[in-house]
Amino acid sequence: MAISREINSTPVTELVKQSRLRHIAFIMDGNGRWAKKRMLPREAGHKVGADNFKTIVRYCKKIGMECCTVYAFSTENIKRPKREVEALFRLLISFIEEAGEEEDIEFRFIGEPGQLGETIGRRTKELEDETRGRPYRLNIAFNYGGRAEIVRAVNRLLAEGKTAVTEEDISANLYTNECPDPDLIVRTGAEMRISNFMLWQAAYAEFYFTDRLWPDYTTADVDEAVRVFASRSRRFGGLDRNEAASQGEQEGT
Ligand code: FPP
Repeated sequence: MAISREINSTPVTELVKQSRLRHIAFIMDGNGRWAKKRMLPREAGHKVGADNFKTIVRYCKKIGMECCTVYAFSTENIKRPKREVEALFRLLISFIEEAGEEEDIEFRFIGEPGQLGETIGRRTKELEDETRGRPYRLNIAFNYGGRAEIVRAVNRLLAEGKTAVTEEDISANLYTNECPDPDLIVRTGAEMRISNFMLWQAAYAEFYFTDRLWPDYTTADVDEAVRVFASRSRRFGGLDRNEAASQGEQEGT
């Protein structure tokens, strides 16, 4: 769908507001290919990807979003070579060490980072406790799987003694229970799949796929995704406002 001249000339901060873009989520793909193209080890791609991720997260806050989620380590990523997995763990720890620079961000780790070792478990928990209640929420999916998240929610409900559950019950027992579902999910790296990411929360999300590899993804690319999002008509299974009005006229209501 072409982006209208009006949307192209509206500041992104305004578009974020007008289109009620509260929560953006990123599947940050392409670090390995970025490194390979430069004859570098995969870990070098993750390092540049981790630096870039800070820039993008700050930018999303600056343009008025309330919440950002990034997919940093899936439950399946543990199968990667030990050297790469350890490099990702080190990046996580250094990210946590530098997180004090961010004054307005509430950090949440979604998934089970605590299962990856005592240090990761403790440091992620400390950062969550120190930053609770801040205005902008960053969910870092680490040792995260969407199906496992749903199963965990159901098991929590069973443990409470529930014998039947509602959608609200499940939503309330997800890691993301305190933030709105993602409005927009961006996947970089030219792959078009969801890879077990926010399966429940993505029910009505808009998807945006780009060939850009994550380390090359820029704030201008975020602007582009916001403009595309603002151009879409979100109907949540109903009709859009214009269609509904014209149906009403035809039916004389
Ligand atoms: C997928 O690209 C990316 C990951 C598995 C890791 C994403 C992690 C970061 C961007 C940095 C993490 C930040 C912290 C704080 C730990 P890929 O490696 O599968 O790329 P490829 O498809 O090109 O091989």
